[in-house]
Amino acid sequence: MARTPMIALHLLVALCILSSARTSSSAPSDVDGFIGCLSAAIPPSLIHTPATNSYSSLLLASVRNLRYVLPGTTRPLLIVAVTEPAHVQATVVCGRRHSVRIRTRSGGHDYEGLSYASVDPDQHFAVLDLGELRSISIDASRSEAWVGSGATLGELYYAAAAANQTFGFPAGNCPTVGVGGHLSGGGFGALSRKYGLSADQVIDAVVVDAEGRLLNRSTMGKDLFWAIRGGGGESFGVVLSWKVRLVAVPETVTVFSIRRLRNESAVDLITKWQAISPALPRDLYLRVLIQNQQANFIALFLGRCGGLVDTMRARFPELGMTERDCQEMSWVKSTVFFFYNTADRPAEVLLDRRNANYYLKVKSDHVAEPIPGEALESIWTKWLEKPEAALIMLDPYGGRMRSIPPSATPFPHRDYLYQFQFFSFWFENGTAALERRLSWVRGAYEDLTPYVSKNPRSVYVNYRDLDIGTNELEGNVTSYAKARVWGERYFKGNFKRLAAVKSMVDPDDFFRNEQSIPPLPAAKR
Ligand code: FDA
Repeated sequence: MARTPMIALHLLVALCILSSARTSSSAPSDVDGFIGCLSAAIPPSLIHTPATNSYSSLLLASVRNLRYVLPGTTRPLLIVAVTEPAHVQATVVCGRRHSVRIRTRSGGHDYEGLSYASVDPDQHFAVLDLGELRSISIDASRSEAWVGSGATLGELYYAAAAANQTFGFPAGNCPTVGVGGHLSGGGFGALSRKYGLSADQVIDAVVVDAEGRLLNRSTMGKDLFWAIRGGGGESFGVVLSWKVRLVAVPETVTVFSIRRLRNESAVDLITKWQAISPALPRDLYLRVLIQNQQANFIALFLGRCGGLVDTMRARFPELGMTERDCQEMSWVKSTVFFFYNTADRPAEVLLDRRNANYYLKVKSDHVAEPIPGEALESIWTKWLEKPEAALIMLDPYGGRMRSIPPSATPFPHRDYLYQFQFFSFWFENGTAALERRLSWVRGAYEDLTPYVSKNPRSVYVNYRDLDIGTNELEGNVTSYAKARVWGERYFKGNFKRLAAVKSMVDPDDFFRNEQSIPPLPAAKR
């Protein structure tokens, strides 16, 4: 392959910088060999080392959490910005051959930056950036789409609606989230009470496995196909694309956003909301965002204003919702509304892949029994009046979420009333701000203990939280016994099956990070 002298020079410099890197296992990384191997199969212009001018801008292009670009964070040895499946296969084969691990990045929204960074200085890895693998092709006659992992949710929503205004897709409320990480971790959003998770609508996928083979649903087998729909893709391979079922939405939907201050009985309203929101008709999703002194009740109704007003009057009259609160629009515009809290922007904003960068720490939980009003009151008094208070997001389950068995996919949290997130984001640089925010989130989370999920205290894997535990090695592979500590909190009884799948598809534990699924030891199979 022809190579410009400048690129050759860059690669040479990179070889010098990187040649001493080691993987976290005992096998030393042969970074020189890795780069040589990559260069034989991939255009050098797609290989970005720290010595290339493009490295930093590419790295930062889809970093969502500034905590993971602070000094002291381990950055990738290099980034391969693939443009075709063969590049992914070659990177996996070269990585295996030369003991360089790989982290896959689709949209870069991992709460703990695992797709592009590590806080462990012993981790050495290359990043496979899938941002260019983002084609979306819609088969309108079958209500299906093939979507590349590098596409964003916003691009998928826009393309679905452009094909037919009555096509929607159940996925998250943030349009810049990447399809690759989101679908492989589950994918919850405003349509989930009606249609379940994104992963529930996946009907096929193309994966590169640890041998560098290109597999689809029939060639990967049912266990791997089960694991990548909620178990987190990073442990099992690289998912290149997904075939999904598009779901039916009406041409016109209705949204509202109703704010109630604390002194306007916001706590009483939240108390009631806990009991009614998971039992509302599936066409209605009603979430609550709480910040400082107010609660914001935000709804998506798959129907017109009249039907929404009738339902709210019958089921939640205390909120005082009226026709004046209704905003009717297309479903695709409702996805704009859910992110920007206004539908005044055109649907084209969904195509904007740029991220707002901030520091981020999230802790999340699930609630099985309504939290008593007095407890909500005291949490609010103790925590929400502080200037460093996080945004609290309450998202109801019920409906279709509840009717899918917990073992149908790796996502086991189907029976809870709602999910609870402390979403702390800030722009201020410096250690003092960081420590204040982290201690707020951790302290508030601790205080919530009596009222939330137990045995284990559960977490949704797409709301990654390294506080719940990280991997340790046993010999050359990740310890199953140690990983159970965090793994059963994400996956409950499904964790063991995920580990069994890992043993089948990646027994050498090539696809490894701080919270990757370990292989199941032979004695436990
Ligand atoms: P990223 O590229 O960082 O990947 C996340 C993880 O998946 C990494 O471990 C990565 O290696 C792995 N991975 C990525 N692509 C892969 C692939 N193709 N094959 C194999 N492994 C792959 N969630 C939700 O359910 N509902 C919501 O409304 C929101 N909202 C939201 C808002 C904001 C601002 C953020 C930052 C996050 C969310 N999320 C969310 C969480 C989101 O679903 C989760 O972080 C996803 O994993 C992000 O996927 P990305 O591809 O963007 O992340």
